[in-house]
Amino acid sequence: KQRLVIAGSGSTYTIGMVMSLIAEKENFPLESLVFYDIDEKRQALNAKATEILLKEYYPELRSFTYTTDKKEAFKNADFVFVQIRTGGLKMREKDEQIPLKYGVVGQETCGPGGMAYGLRSIKDMIELIYDIRKQSPNAWILNYTNPAAIVAEALKREFPDDRKILNICDMPIAIMVSYAKILGLEVWDLVPEYFGLNHFGWFTKIYDKSGNDLTERLKNLIIEKGFKPEDAEIANDPSWIKTFEQARKTLMDFPEYLPNTYLQYYLYPEEMVKKEDPNHTRARQVMEGREKRVRELCGRIIEKGTAAGEDLHADIHGVYMIRAAESLAYNLHQYFIVMVENRGVIPNLPQDAMVEVTCVLTSDGPKPFAVGEIPTFYKGLIEGQFAYEKLVVDAYYEKSYLKLLQALTLNRTVVDTDKARRILDELIEANKGYWPDL
Ligand code: G6P
Ligand code: MN
Repeated sequence: KQRLVIAGSGSTYTIGMVMSLIAEKENFPLESLVFYDIDEKRQALNAKATEILLKEYYPELRSFTYTTDKKEAFKNADFVFVQIRTGGLKMREKDEQIPLKYGVVGQETCGPGGMAYGLRSIKDMIELIYDIRKQSPNAWILNYTNPAAIVAEALKREFPDDRKILNICDMPIAIMVSYAKILGLEVWDLVPEYFGLNHFGWFTKIYDKSGNDLTERLKNLIIEKGFKPEDAEIANDPSWIKTFEQARKTLMDFPEYLPNTYLQYYLYPEEMVKKEDPNHTRARQVMEGREKRVRELCGRIIEKGTAAGEDLHADIHGVYMIRAAESLAYNLHQYFIVMVENRGVIPNLPQDAMVEVTCVLTSDGPKPFAVGEIPTFYKGLIEGQFAYEKLVVDAYYEKSYLKLLQALTLNRTVVDTDKARRILDELIEANKGYWPDL
């Protein structure tokens, strides 16, 4: 049985994770569950509702606690799931709004917003990993803190010998849920081949478990019939629906491979800017949507003392993380798309890049499959993006304004140096106290 800690448990994703732990309790049975957050109030609301959920749906779980004390939280953990958001949704909104003022994509992980968020995340993530390691030198750390590409690059540099940090993102599997639906299959029956950087990659093949290649059929179905988000959390969300429409368009323009939906920001930056309402970016939508919904849900559960009558379900995000943990814990050799250091997986990309590829997860960590050389178009795109990510991490360590300016100039969402400088200067102001002093 596993002792699990969730760091950043004040998140709007936590209740979904708890429901996923309940759904997976036979396969990933818990000895104990601990919530950790720096925001006592946000955490307490989720935790009090969780206490009731666990009592009703997971009575065999003996120990559930929540704390803002790191030492207490990370003692003797087997797994730590890290899902922090430095600066919260308030800073996310600034990340999205500031670039839009300059006609540039405003997104939490792509473009200048992603850079701003990255510089905030690195500092807290490094500190948090040291704190975890002091208490639990052997725990598996599953990190899905954003922007995951930049965080993964920074953690690789800060902890080069730590083999038990796994950087993982749910976007590929969320997309595969939609693929499964289109194909009339179950998502866990699909085996993907995939390459790229986090939020910057492509599926090259989709097979079923018997080894049948479904790729061409899937592409044709998407092009013919379109493509819809299927995860309950995002299925009725207009911004995710638009995102999936854009992914179809990407496939029509570049039909070689199936795109990660995040490529829309890099391949159609002008269109993406036009679609945005600067006064109602994604952060605002989440605050008024999911955040409010979860707050009210927890409030009701706590008030009634029961979750009966509530519409609660596991989500693909939670189930994916838990099944990954399961494969690591029990050496299951199951397929997951995760981030690993390149080291020959894609021979014509930098060997030290943190690439996102299909791996089997074993008790000795992720074992990637060779991808082989990739074609020039993808190589060019990825090299530019990786150089940007690397410069952001360099800039963090060297406190270098110049490297941030170089990073933004390289980013496909920006390109123009004067624009890069103006955006950078405004981001520096907005991130005082979060970024290192340049
Ligand atoms: C996907 C991505 C995550 C991202 C999330 C944002 O799950 O993989 O990296 O954080 O979407 O969703 P939201 O609903 O907060 O915009
Ligand atoms: Mn992600």
